Amino acid sequence: MRKPIIAGNWKMNNTAEEGVALVKALKPLVADAKCEVVVCVPAIDIPAVKKALHGSRIKLGAQNVHFAEKGAYTGEISAKMLLEYGVKYVIIGHSERRQYFGETDETVNKRTLAALAAGLTPIVCIGESLEERENGLTEKVLDRQLKEGFQGVGDFSKLVIAYEPIWAIGTGKTATAQQANDAIAYIRKRVKKLYPHSNAGRMRIQYGGSMNAGNAKELMAQPEIDGGLIGGASLKPQDFAAIVHFDK
Ligand code: PGA
Repeated sequence: MRKPIIAGNWKMNNTAEEGVALVKALKPLVADAKCEVVVCVPAIDIPAVKKALHGSRIKLGAQNVHFAEKGAYTGEISAKMLLEYGVKYVIIGHSERRQYFGETDETVNKRTLAALAAGLTPIVCIGESLEERENGLTEKVLDRQLKEGFQGVGDFSKLVIAYEPIWAIGTGKTATAQQANDAIAYIRKRVKKLYPHSNAGRMRIQYGGSMNAGNAKELMAQPEIDGGLIGGASLKPQDFAAIVHFDK
């Protein structure tokens, strides 16, 4: 019922030229993918990557979007600007943005609502820190992020949630398949409770955090995990393609 979605998050990697080379190598490797495949690229790479993706089913994503339609917001990019280049997905509230750039549940909420209103599909990131997990606060943190970050969202099938435990991002320390499945099951249960008419059964929830060619199969075999948000491994076409083909 829920189509799996594997998305690459290039973060601040790849010039436009490097991004085009990566996409050219990736295209034939994922041509027969059964899941949805997305690459979320640096904003300045978007025009060139868009061109390079021509004729492929790989979808284009951005890594952030501002909540205003336009105006005096130096350094920001609007939904309309992304749409002009065929961007379909946008990552919102990645933990790196929360940690280094002052992103809060409130700004995540505003960006998410703006993206939805514009017809972009937000990939909204939530997840706990190591300290929070060790202190038994995982569910409490997820609860707060779900309550404050998603107010006003109507149909949750129009967005993707990425559950990314911060301690697993870029560390090589993956959550166990069980930990990831449990947290994601909790997220769906809470969305159903907090937002009763939200279509939450059809919302896709990804796992993110050191997902790679070696562990993707086991993670994706979990009933609650609908996809992956992939950082490091999305920079290597062979590795990313192996994750996309988790079902082989
Ligand atoms: P990672 O990053 O796969 O390199 O851990 C995931 C993410 O930050 O989305």
